[in-house]
Amino acid sequence: MIKLRIVSGSSSRLLSKRLAEEANADLVDVNIKRFPDRECYVRIMDDLDNENVVLIQNTWPDENIVEFFLLADAIKEFKIKKLTAVIPYFGYARQDKKFNPGEPISVRALIKRIQIDVDKIITVDIHDENVLKWFDIPSINVSGMPAIGEYLKKLNPDIIIAPDDGALQKAKNVADIVGCSYDYFDKKRIDDMHVEMKTKNIDVENKNVAIVDDIISTGGTIITATKNLKKQGAKNVYACCTHGLFAENALEKLQNVCDKVISTDSIENPASAVSIASEIEKMLK
Ligand code: R5P
Repeated sequence: MIKLRIVSGSSSRLLSKRLAEEANADLVDVNIKRFPDRECYVRIMDDLDNENVVLIQNTWPDENIVEFFLLADAIKEFKIKKLTAVIPYFGYARQDKKFNPGEPISVRALIKRIQIDVDKIITVDIHDENVLKWFDIPSINVSGMPAIGEYLKKLNPDIIIAPDDGALQKAKNVADIVGCSYDYFDKKRIDDMHVEMKTKNIDVENKNVAIVDDIISTGGTIITATKNLKKQGAKNVYACCTHGLFAENALEKLQNVCDKVISTDSIENPASAVSIASEIEKMLK
């Protein structure tokens, strides 16, 4: 069987190493650096002729997008068999429609350009899977929730909660793995300044609760949710997400109110205790 060759962008070194182990693939020797003016330089040091290549790189923050384009172009300079791009965290996916006249559909703008050199795309918990319709090449979205569910088994939560009904399926996926119940938050506006978040159906008093979401950015959503859960008597609250962006000092703020903060390795950070490598590996076959 021909071994896969994995090219890691600078956003995804840990995940690439883990994926190479899972897939029994070789990591390609790549030189990536920045010129003094911050422009990017990449060079593939191994021969990729006749190889099946996998490129792993996030499209966040912005400089990783340029790096992605350069790496894809460099890979295509070889006579490769196939290029699969894994985009663990697909930045710009939340702007998936025009909210105001004159705006772009940002995720579509990236999709159009990303597919130019690529034969197949794998994303992980992209904000809304429906955007994959804009790819003209085969695309698949994998979920980080099974890996989060496996990890949570150790913490034995009583209930998994989605911050809103849009994330309810994620909470159900995790709850099915853990073997517990699930629910979502019902938001009630008290006045201009205050929103009350209560679990829709299940009482959380004296319960260990895990909140699951695709992204934690500023942490605002989870911090408000956690404070409300604690007010309602929850014992421990675990904050879990696939993509830990942790803007500014969000991780520290979260750690001050939550009993544990857990993210996957789609973005490497001190909370990435869970790996999505095996979920991605299943889709490489
Ligand atoms: C929103 O649609 C996402 O699913 C997350 O709930 C959101 O990005 C979280 O953002 P923040 O951490 O800034 O509240």
